[in-house]
Amino acid sequence: MNGENRGDKRKKILITGGLGFIGSHVAEHFSAQGFEVVCVDNLSRPGPNFVPPDQRNQISPSSSIILDYFRTNLPNIVLYLEDLRNEDKIIQIMQEERPDFIIHAAGQTSAHDSIQEPMLDFENNVVGLLNILNAARLCSPPPKFIYLSTNKVYGTKINSVSLEEMSTRYKLKDPPDGIAETFGVDLCGHTPYGTSKLAGDLYVQEFGASYGIPVLIFRMSCIYGPRQFGLEGQAWISHFVIRALKHQPIQIFGTGKQVRDILHITDLLELFGKAILHLESQSAVFDPSKNVFNIGGGSQNSISLMELLQFLESELNYPITIENHPTRLGDQQLYISDISRAEKIFVWQPQISPREGISTVIEWTQKNLSHF
Ligand SMILES: NC(=O)c1ccc[n+]([C@@H]2O[C@H](COP(=O)([O-])OP(=O)(O)OC[C@H]3O[C@@H](n4cnc5c(N)ncnc54)[C@H](O)[C@@H]3O)[C@@H](O)[C@H]2O)c1
Repeated sequence: MNGENRGDKRKKILITGGLGFIGSHVAEHFSAQGFEVVCVDNLSRPGPNFVPPDQRNQISPSSSIILDYFRTNLPNIVLYLEDLRNEDKIIQIMQEERPDFIIHAAGQTSAHDSIQEPMLDFENNVVGLLNILNAARLCSPPPKFIYLSTNKVYGTKINSVSLEEMSTRYKLKDPPDGIAETFGVDLCGHTPYGTSKLAGDLYVQEFGASYGIPVLIFRMSCIYGPRQFGLEGQAWISHFVIRALKHQPIQIFGTGKQVRDILHITDLLELFGKAILHLESQSAVFDPSKNVFNIGGGSQNSISLMELLQFLESELNYPITIENHPTRLGDQQLYISDISRAEKIFVWQPQISPREGISTVIEWTQKNLSHF
């Protein structure tokens, strides 16, 4: 399939998963910055409501909403409504488009679904990634590559870190600044999702080291913001906001004191801008200490489930019903990224506080409540 629209000859970014939460923001951002933007997406994004696997049709409702938005508001962005698992098609798109950069934001993103359907998770997250990486390798020069990895690569090993239990959250005893990139990734549970993302992380490192493709790997914690369609077990801030606005009970697995550092999408876009500049100026020699980064809000921007519920109750002015359940397989009790390496190398720092950021999610969800 040919792209739907064509822009002028400028620096070109190909975004896989370009109609997803992160991908669509990245596409819109770089298009506004004057880049030529090409998106590849198979319209399989989950949400806004859970659809059992056997009833999933070709276009998911959330993909359809964002597709309409792109067609109406962003006609200069080239869209390939294709599946990354189709190797021949991906090579063809890459040869036709010859992007300067690739941001790989496509994937199966639910840990919960990956336990139900490990093969589907593997095909999307490993085979799909390899197809795009290999297609990039066949270009000369190869495009520079940013892979959106996850904190789930560290798996349940995180739970071996000493924690203190406070009244509303767990707290790290040591290390105080969070989990660094040198933290171990194996000899622990991950969920199939964490495993497929870790396999992808290693493949990207390998394509950097063996084939000289300039790569950056962002092991991200919780990214949040408007245009997210949260579901049970995925995009929890958005999920809690949707349930709270709809006066529906929220299920809590474990104590509710689980903590995550959270990064607003606006701060992530700022980082991507700097990452692109960095990739342009760096040599292609792979060095894990300069190519792999933990990305999140850091210790200054962390919140527990319980604290989010309290904040929502104070903002919305009514009580939220909670249903308590035992801890889930593969859950991390606390994850806070040590973002000092990214802060130093990209001269970047998160600016948006949880209160400010979560308010943007409440506002967007309220305006779009008819979708949920
Ligand atoms: N959102 C977060 O908090 C977060 C945290 C860590 C890592 N990540 C990673 O960032 C990436 C983007 O996450 P998101 O929150 O935007 O997810 P999302 O589900 O909103 O977007 C993923 C997009 O990929 C597309 N896609 C899936 N499989 C595909 C395939 N085989 N071919 C083509 N397109 C396909 C979907 O249609 C969807 O539009 C994912 O790889 C995820 O693992 C996200």
